[in-house]
Amino acid sequence: METTSVSSSRIQKFELEEDNELRFVVSGREEVTLELINGSAEVFGSVVEKNKKYIFPPGARVAVFTWKKATVELIGTANAYVSPETPMIMYINLHAALEQLRRIADNPTEKDRVGQGPRIMLVGPTDVGKSTLSRILCNYAVRQNRSPIFVDLDVGQNSISAPGTIGAIHINRPADVVDGFERTKPIVYNYGSLQPGDNNALYEKLLITLSQAVSAKTVENVETGISGVIINTCGWIADGGYAAIVQAAQHFEVDIVAVLDQERLYNELQKTLPKFVKIVHLPKSGGVEVRSSEVRLKSRNMAVQRYFYGTRGEQYFPHQFDVPFDEVTVVKVGTESVPEECLPVGMKPEDYSAKVVPFPISPELRHHVLALSPFDSLTQEISTTPVFGFVVVKEVDMIEKKMTVLCPRNELPYPRIFVYTKIEFLDDHNVPM
Ligand SMILES: Nc1ncnc2c1ncn2[C@@H]1O[C@H](COP(=O)(O)OP(=O)(O)OP(=O)(O)O)[C@@H](O)[C@H]1O
Ligand SMILES: [Mg+2]
Repeated sequence: METTSVSSSRIQKFELEEDNELRFVVSGREEVTLELINGSAEVFGSVVEKNKKYIFPPGARVAVFTWKKATVELIGTANAYVSPETPMIMYINLHAALEQLRRIADNPTEKDRVGQGPRIMLVGPTDVGKSTLSRILCNYAVRQNRSPIFVDLDVGQNSISAPGTIGAIHINRPADVVDGFERTKPIVYNYGSLQPGDNNALYEKLLITLSQAVSAKTVENVETGISGVIINTCGWIADGGYAAIVQAAQHFEVDIVAVLDQERLYNELQKTLPKFVKIVHLPKSGGVEVRSSEVRLKSRNMAVQRYFYGTRGEQYFPHQFDVPFDEVTVVKVGTESVPEECLPVGMKPEDYSAKVVPFPISPELRHHVLALSPFDSLTQEISTTPVFGFVVVKEVDMIEKKMTVLCPRNELPYPRIFVYTKIEFLDDHNVPM
């Protein structure tokens, strides 16, 4: 490794041998530029072009891997090292196994699997590289002209939409090296909180609805069906989290579960899941570091920030609107159920987990992210119907009876049924009204 200082920026040059990985964290407040000078390399499965400058924002954690040889340059403050040990061979073998199943699905002689490719779910504790491996597998699939569906069930660190959601996108081109996958036309369900355990029953209802929407897509389009489904999950694996993994495997009818890192989980799932589900155990990469709760919070804020403002490569220009109270209805999904002992004898407790109830407008809503429902009146279907976007409440004026919201578009769409979420975002930008 050669390290030189040039004016105010630091240039570091790295020579990578076969199967090496350069790992770096953008540790300062400034961006870091990555350039492939020679050879070939990829970032989480996306090909890095030679002599192109890729600019990563502060906080980014990146791995530049080469199957052959590469000379890579970093400019800026980056904490970087080269590792000769990576699990990439095992990850590409997993991809090869999925590709084999896709070929079988595409082969009319194998009657039982015709048209339906592999459905793989990635599970494991927090910070083992589940999201990264899903990205790698989607990238490898699309680089072989497949077009899988990527499902993200992680309500805490969702990579498709805002935190507090689950959703799916159709992958038909590799992820941008810096920004990840394009998020066009996602199917997004609002759960409204960061932990599946907050309202298990609602979470499962959304899992079921999303799995049905995904299945419809795999039937609708032959290529999608053959390409299959890649499902990312959250790192909550104890108690209720384990049950949620099992539910997800059932509803999405997964045929492969890849367990990252934790052998105990691997063993438990072998006992619980039906025999036809193939369970594989994979090591985590030494490059994935444990993130503190502050780093997680920061990355959630960045996700909301990205939803409204886009990225450096693709900026959005959101607008602010004053909405009179009488032009909007705020609702909440899920209420406390009445304890059984308070009900008349013989009466079954009603399911309150997805009950849609009015939510009073008050200053309590300040900084909350609200989901935009497509309905124009209060109906139970609000709870399990995809949302068409989000706003953030910037102000609530109880005297003028209006609230100010940040909206990604230059008009605030009707109908205006906003769904409460526990997600908060402190927006300190000045944006046009
Ligand atoms: N090989 C690697 N080298 C360096 N950094 C990496 C590597 N693989 C992943 N990372 C980074 O480590 C962080 C955690 O990885 P990732 O999000 O995939 O883990 P996870 O298991 O999905 O975590 P969570 O449980 O929070 O969802 C990410 O910032 C990712 O960019
Ligand atoms: Mg993740």
